[in-house]
Amino acid sequence: LVVNASKSSTRKMPESLFGVFFEEINHAGAGGLWAELVSNRGFESGGQHSPSIIDPWSIIGDDSMLKVTTDFSSCFKQNPMALKMEVLCDNHGTNICPVGGVGIYNPGHWGMNIEEGKTYNLVLYIRSLESINVTVSLTDSIGVQTLATANIIESDVSDWTKMEAKLKAKGSNVNSRLQLKTDKKGVIWFDQVSLMPTDTYKGHGFRNDLFKMVADMKPGFIRFPGGCFVEGEYLRNAFRWKETVGPWEERPGHFGDVWMYWTEDGLGHYEFLQLAEDLGAAPVWVFNNGISHKESVDPSNIMPFVQEALDGIEFARGDPNSTWGSVRAKMGHPEPFDLKYVAIGNEDCWLKNYRANYLQFYAAIQKAYPDIKMISNCDGSNGQLDHPADMYDFHIYANASTVFSMANTFDRTSRVGPKAFVSEYAVTGNDAGSGSLLGALAEAGFLLGVEKNSDVVEMASYAPLFVNTNDRRWMPDAIVFDSSQSYGTPSYWMQHFFKESNGATLLKSTLQANSSSSLEASAIVYRDTEDNKNYLRVKVVNFGSNTVNLKIMINGLDPNLLDTSGSKTVLSSTNVRDENSFANPEKVTPVKSLLETAGKNMDVILLPHSLTCFDVKM
Ligand code: AHR
Repeated sequence: LVVNASKSSTRKMPESLFGVFFEEINHAGAGGLWAELVSNRGFESGGQHSPSIIDPWSIIGDDSMLKVTTDFSSCFKQNPMALKMEVLCDNHGTNICPVGGVGIYNPGHWGMNIEEGKTYNLVLYIRSLESINVTVSLTDSIGVQTLATANIIESDVSDWTKMEAKLKAKGSNVNSRLQLKTDKKGVIWFDQVSLMPTDTYKGHGFRNDLFKMVADMKPGFIRFPGGCFVEGEYLRNAFRWKETVGPWEERPGHFGDVWMYWTEDGLGHYEFLQLAEDLGAAPVWVFNNGISHKESVDPSNIMPFVQEALDGIEFARGDPNSTWGSVRAKMGHPEPFDLKYVAIGNEDCWLKNYRANYLQFYAAIQKAYPDIKMISNCDGSNGQLDHPADMYDFHIYANASTVFSMANTFDRTSRVGPKAFVSEYAVTGNDAGSGSLLGALAEAGFLLGVEKNSDVVEMASYAPLFVNTNDRRWMPDAIVFDSSQSYGTPSYWMQHFFKESNGATLLKSTLQANSSSSLEASAIVYRDTEDNKNYLRVKVVNFGSNTVNLKIMINGLDPNLLDTSGSKTVLSSTNVRDENSFANPEKVTPVKSLLETAGKNMDVILLPHSLTCFDVKM
């Protein structure tokens, strides 16, 4: 590998070249990164237009002791359902309640993770025409072991009343549930029952371990909230940002009919922008453009959608006195969020009305926010787009050899015109399994090509980011989790090899090996923020099954500038199909060791099926 480090053959790479794509898929947010422990907290999961179903709430007791239904008696206009619990047994008389009473429980999203010593904030709305005595508790999955408890005793809740309790856990259980019980005869209505851990990231509601997994990738941007989630099968089930802001109790929630689950939209437009800020990543907002998988708004009627997009931008960055900026300010963020990128729809280029509608969005946004960069859904890698855009979206899901060979995809792309945003890439199918080394190596090869073409590729992100193992809607994914634990797939760890690339300097590098068809490489200079020193980094993927002896020659650089030792980090495994798992989360993870002979000429050994990165201080 010949690396030319002379100034004339270097190029600075975009500051936000590598980032993440967060989609509400696989319960990534609801029951994932969003730390709300109650599932279906408003009893709305059947939707406003059908009689509500209470699932996964269940009843403690039997028909002779209580009747549980839902009715339209909520105090919240947008989410009208409340749960009505008619208790037939009592603590005295002939129909005595069982010890501890009867009631309802919520198992969360496949079990709540309750940890000893931690405090959980319970909020609920309650109403009854009689005085109430309700015990709230956190228990194991069968309600036998109590981990935390509090009593709600009130003489007058004849109007809807907000109740709050802090529950401190005296034990741990990853499969806990929340119980609301009473042994007093009468009728009680419950609504908007929320249980949040107090130790979310900065108190912003993000589950700490999952937030850290993403932050550790140092993403330069975050694209949200989808994907198909933005489109919906039908427009009525699309993510519409206005329904996701303001007090959580008043958000209607919606049924995502592509990934087929209900979300309360606790993780809404505001929270996504906050997440981007907390990650130090540039927000890239994908908005619904009047197109779903099965419907498309006629260009003559698209203006309300255009206004909705403009309002969403105003919400993010408008003055705190503006109509929507004031809503943001009221939610706790008077300063604007740094929104500079929006995508006009997702994967809609060939759907009806895309271009005609797109042009209306483009013109209106450009007029109101000339600095906002707009992303088209149409591929511009092979020729000029037939409409104006700052970037075009590019998605690639394919088998390993196809993805690996796509390292050259952008070599022939025109150097003028809109840049590519590879917002979704991944190896899928048999080669990927549920996250294999093989997939990760092919993706690394593709990303090395992205680095080399970063004059025409502005951003790239893997998809999807998260999967809750209890509801796998897409395979593979970068981060796998359940209620209490998580691990990265090889594709997650592969991305760590690229996290120093944002804003780094690309050096010209040429592979001259015989086996070059199974090798891809790149060379960069980056600044380490910890020791404030420059490093030369050479990354090489050996996609083949043979060991490769490689000579790395650095030309155009004063040899005294390079340290004589450095480090070597390898992602490999005994079998190219190896995957990580909860049982063996670190089977395929990067292994760092000393590189003893660094310098201008380096003889290195590349393991079969490996990604290796060599770092030498300059
Ligand atoms: O990443 C999963 C899905 O793949 C996204 O929702 C969609 O944009 C693509 O088809």
